[in-house]
Amino acid sequence: MKVVIPAAGLGTRFLPATKSMPKEMLPVLNRPVIQYVVEEAIAGGADDITIVTGRGKRAVEDHFDHNPDLGGSGTRASLRELEEVMGKAAFHFVRQRTPRGLADAIACAEHHVGNEPFGVLLGDSIHVSETPLLTQLRTTFERMGGKASVVALERVPRDKLSSYGVAGGTPVDLQVIRVERLVEKPKPADAPGDTALTGAYYLTPAIFGAIRATPPDRKGEVQLTDALARLVATEGVYGLIFEGRRYDTGTPLLWLEANVRFALRDPAYRDRVIEIFRESTRAESATRPSEAPAP
Ligand code: G1P
Repeated sequence: MKVVIPAAGLGTRFLPATKSMPKEMLPVLNRPVIQYVVEEAIAGGADDITIVTGRGKRAVEDHFDHNPDLGGSGTRASLRELEEVMGKAAFHFVRQRTPRGLADAIACAEHHVGNEPFGVLLGDSIHVSETPLLTQLRTTFERMGGKASVVALERVPRDKLSSYGVAGGTPVDLQVIRVERLVEKPKPADAPGDTALTGAYYLTPAIFGAIRATPPDRKGEVQLTDALARLVATEGVYGLIFEGRRYDTGTPLLWLEANVRFALRDPAYRDRVIEIFRESTRAESATRPSEAPAP
């Protein structure tokens, strides 16, 4: 399966850390976010990965290449996992010349993708699930007749919906909805439902025509959500409330949360992290003025 990973965004929600470093290279424990995304793609059947980069993103390309200064391949145990990942798919890199939005970034891969359905995983979001997310999306695509794109959804509290693309529609079953409306970052009153796009998609090649037909928004960006909204009226679009959990790493707090949660699941970090929390809570309550009522 071909998979496109857009990694061209500017990371403005994480400045100054992302001024000269790609947000996709921020580490969660010892691996950059994009490595998790690539691993997730491969687990879901990707054998051909196109990463869309842009200005200042060379570190992303270098990460999936050999570094002779660190010795030949296979010489360092700490690089073995990454080298295995690199051997499991063909990697391609294309550059988006100007940051004109997510849909425009995906269109940069059109020539490579050709005329077949393909997966898209955003380079700054990690999905963790028992069945790989792309497998879940592709299975749903086939179950729904193999003609309409499928987007991954999760339910989000109403006051958070304005940070996402939001889908509304009619339930097909407990997990799948037939999408009727899609709105990118709606005001709470305009949200068409309570399910948000999490940044994983299984798209038909018709998306490329839809992207060309989609005008840029007020910020000059062509939104994938707007292009998908065009497909709703033609081929149709399905939404899958996926099994699993998603970690956005695009802001300092969300990135920190991802690190804490991954550390708590990993025996190499878990005990020490819990100890640090205990120590800090004890130190904090010791310095807090007594809350006991005066006698
Ligand atoms: C992008 C998409 C949005 C989606 C979100 C998921 O927004 O445009 O529809 O809900 O990713 O993370 P961004 O976070 O890049 O602003």
